Amino acid sequence: MSVRRLAPDHVQPASFAFDVANENWADQQIAKYPEGRQASAVIPLLWKAQEQHDGWVPRAAIEEVARKLGMAPMRVMEIATFYTMFNLQPVGEHFIQLCGTTPCALRGAEAIRKVCEDVIGPQSTVSADGKLSWLEVECLGACCNAPMVQINFDYYEDLTPENFKTLLDDLRHGRPVKTGSQIGRSGSEPLGGGETLKDAALYDGTVIGAGDWKARVTEQRKAAAEAAAAKAAAEAEAKKAEAAKAEATPATPSKPATETASPGRPQPSSPGQPTSAANDTPATQGKVDPKSAGEAAKSADPAAPKPVK
Ligand code: FES
Repeated sequence: MSVRRLAPDHVQPASFAFDVANENWADQQIAKYPEGRQASAVIPLLWKAQEQHDGWVPRAAIEEVARKLGMAPMRVMEIATFYTMFNLQPVGEHFIQLCGTTPCALRGAEAIRKVCEDVIGPQSTVSADGKLSWLEVECLGACCNAPMVQINFDYYEDLTPENFKTLLDDLRHGRPVKTGSQIGRSGSEPLGGGETLKDAALYDGTVIGAGDWKARVTEQRKAAAEAAAAKAAAEAEAKKAEAAKAEATPATPSKPATETASPGRPQPSSPGQPTSAANDTPATQGKVDPKSAGEAAKSADPAAPKPVK
């Protein structure tokens, strides 16, 4: 287990500030949490500070994160020193985390540790060329392929002192390396390949009386493909016939525009309504001849004297 202490003062920077992009990113993370719960963003902010500061978290970064989140610096310090994902010391370009827990120890982690000490130096120190540094950590969850190390974000498994030395040399000189198992295992099967579940009958359904399910599935897929092809052909035929029919039918002549009543046009008057002609009757038609009017009035008035016959 590594000791979790801040780096010595002489390597600590005087100050730390997020750059503009990371400051914006940090503000977005903080905004995800409800008012009063901003401290929940402490892990992402520490991680971003580590990314920005060459892979390790200096004291000034811890203080800056505390200031941004309104936390006591000691609270952030507790978190940074608890989680081994935060490096408290400067690291090399290739930072090696060596698993020293029991399964890896039983499979030769001690010899891998010796290589680290010989090639790089004491743990938590960076090699003179700045390329390598190492730290012993607890189980990294790849015990089946022990012993193993994590280098930056990749796992390297099934290590031996020889292949590990070669790996470090390749990394140091920028040569391509192979991640995962260093002896060609594709998963976590036993060395030399799997020893159980090798009977092919276990996978074709015969053991549970399901018959040859592979043949059945192949048949079903073939039938489905044929049906889809037949449907597509029928649809294409129908489209073709429709197009031919449309071509054979003569186009209907359209009505002249003048015969078409516009929607806003006033409609003709109904028979009961006075026509404009009636309204236009000259005033003389309403004039009465004074003579005939007088005679009419006389014949209508019973008191009027009757002419003598
Ligand atoms: S013990 Fe080493 S990966 Fe689990």
